[in-house]
Amino acid sequence: MKLLDALQWRYAVKKMNGTKIPTEKLDTIIEATRLAPSAFGLTPYTIIVVEDDETRKKLQPAFYNQSQVVDGSAVIIFAVWNTISEKEVAEYMQDIADQRGVPVDSLKDFSGYINGSLKNLTPEQARVWADKQAYIALGFSLVAAAAEQIDATPMEGFAPDAVDEVLGLKAMGLHSAVALTLGYRDAANDYLVNAKKVRRAHSKLIIKK
Ligand SMILES: Cc1cc2nc3c(=O)[nH]c(=O)nc-3n(C[C@H](O)[C@H](O)[C@H](O)COP(=O)(O)O)c2cc1C
Repeated sequence: MKLLDALQWRYAVKKMNGTKIPTEKLDTIIEATRLAPSAFGLTPYTIIVVEDDETRKKLQPAFYNQSQVVDGSAVIIFAVWNTISEKEVAEYMQDIADQRGVPVDSLKDFSGYINGSLKNLTPEQARVWADKQAYIALGFSLVAAAAEQIDATPMEGFAPDAVDEVLGLKAMGLHSAVALTLGYRDAANDYLVNAKKVRRAHSKLIIKK
């Protein structure tokens, strides 16, 4: 399926049918998500993939009982780092050194630039900045799922503290920012299955100069 056809095909599914998605397709969507860009390349989040039925049952009330959490095949939680310190930046420098085969010392200017930029942010600004990076990854997941003909529902409709509690995120220095359920649409019971896609008109949304 061509990209634009896949994006027309996808919609935020309200009712899923309980069918598991093939492991290869889940892995492809996760790998596409891992390939999402982030500012500085720092990726200040962890992607939690929940397939386990019991854990998804525990999560459902935290998602205001949205059915996709249990009727889907997996819930992906974009769990963002609560703090970003020089330690995380140093780990990232080590990743660059290892993966590009360059000395870590050659990255001093880059790490100084990142640390300097982050120090200019208040903790609240740093949190908002880090959350934004996770939303880029969410976008990659959504496009990848559509390309793989896997249904997906992006989700902000959850109580973050309750989700964090179920997954033990606080102890991991993380907080849930946004989520995604993956699965297959229940075409007979989803009231949105044939709904026309509504978007702002091209002429209003896009200005060419
Ligand atoms: C960040 C974000 C959060 C959303 N949260 C929810 C949600 O909690 N539950 C839900 O059913 N849909 C949720 N949606 C789906 C949107 O309502 C939907 O994407 C939008 O109406 C456009 O429709 P479409 O995705 O079907 O084309 C969310 C979408 C985004 C991007």
